[in-house]
Amino acid sequence: MTDRPTASTDTPTPASPTTPTVMSAIVGDRYGGPEVLERRDVPVPNPSATGVLVEVAATSLNALDWHLMTGTPYLVRLMNGLRRPKRTIHGADVAGTVVAVGREVTRHRVGDRVFGETGGGGCSPYLATSEDVLARIPDGVSFDDAAATGVAGLTAIQGLVTHGDVQPGEHVLINGAAGGVGTFAVQIAKALGATVTAVCSTGNVAMVSDLGADEVVDYRTADFTDGGRRFDVMFDGVGSRTPAENVSVLAPGSRYVAVSGPKSNPWLDPMRYVARMAWAAKRNGIRFHQFTASPNHDDLVRLGELLADGSVVPAIDRVITLDGVPEAMAQIGGGHTPAKIVVHPRWVGPASADDPGTAAGEAGSR
Ligand SMILES: NC(=O)c1ccc[n+]([C@@H]2O[C@H](COP(=O)([O-])OP(=O)(O)OC[C@H]3O[C@@H](n4cnc5c(N)ncnc54)[C@H](OP(=O)(O)O)[C@@H]3O)[C@@H](O)[C@H]2O)c1
Repeated sequence: MTDRPTASTDTPTPASPTTPTVMSAIVGDRYGGPEVLERRDVPVPNPSATGVLVEVAATSLNALDWHLMTGTPYLVRLMNGLRRPKRTIHGADVAGTVVAVGREVTRHRVGDRVFGETGGGGCSPYLATSEDVLARIPDGVSFDDAAATGVAGLTAIQGLVTHGDVQPGEHVLINGAAGGVGTFAVQIAKALGATVTAVCSTGNVAMVSDLGADEVVDYRTADFTDGGRRFDVMFDGVGSRTPAENVSVLAPGSRYVAVSGPKSNPWLDPMRYVARMAWAAKRNGIRFHQFTASPNHDDLVRLGELLADGSVVPAIDRVITLDGVPEAMAQIGGGHTPAKIVVHPRWVGPASADDPGTAAGEAGSR
């Protein structure tokens, strides 16, 4: 028997007797590129008193995972360990089934289908996490769709609703519309009743248009700052334009929501861009918002409702196994991943009829 690590120093809650004690996970225990990732056997964790153990059906990869893997921008290391990452298993998103609960858990029970944003651990078959970062998956919503939603969906909904305060009839510009966050932002802005202009590259125009954008600007052949248009909200998932260019498309009283920024300098970026953008917004009477998305339970519930009523259908580029994670992470590092990459962590190797990841996913039938 291998001792299980616990998610906190609380007295551990035993997992069910049918839960294995060892699992195969993708582990990265030093900062670096995808070459630091390796598949290794690790102990299945026990949940803390306020935590749950989730049997992971699916996770999805985000730019966040790239930042945590590489330790860049260096600001990341203040939270995730200066020399070595505290979180060694990536996959901040999770969708799966609760198989054990801590004695103080009130929200979830064994057998619940849950999804959320855990900060890491999804690239493994079992994950111990706080109950607060999870919500129930509504009936009819698949594990894959729920897994794709965590970080990207929370960032989009918090950017557009909490910070952007998007109202029906407003005109929203989404820069970076083809990415994980952007594909959710387009659909959530439409669900809020906004008119959406979305910016992406040539190869993603059709996909973004299918998501419901009213207008798609191909930034390789056109420029959204041309034509003198003014938007009520700019949701910026890239930071590809200068602050002066951004404010040129925003009327006084409008909102600029910064989700990202250039990252060429790991010491100073994206904060120097954010600071310049904040100053430009202030000088032009534009409300500036920059935030880090958080796994708020109410927002997860709202996202679940949008998935359940079909207002949001996660754009999933592909579903991969744990073996495909290093290559997928390299693609994410390149900054042009279309939509979401979902990972099934409970099997390794080619897809097969008895793939347990697929069997788990059938509960929601993608
Ligand atoms: N603040 C937060 O809490 C928070 C949360 C999540 C993510 N983020 C940040 O937000 C950014 C997006 O995250 P993500 O997970 O969506 O990343 P992602 O899935 O890797 O998507 C990045 C997207 O950016 C697009 N893009 C690249 N250059 C562009 C340009 N010049 N103009 C317009 N679009 C461009 C790419 O589309 P094309 O191939 O079409 O160019 C790509 O699909 C990342 O920088 C991430 O770190 C922040």
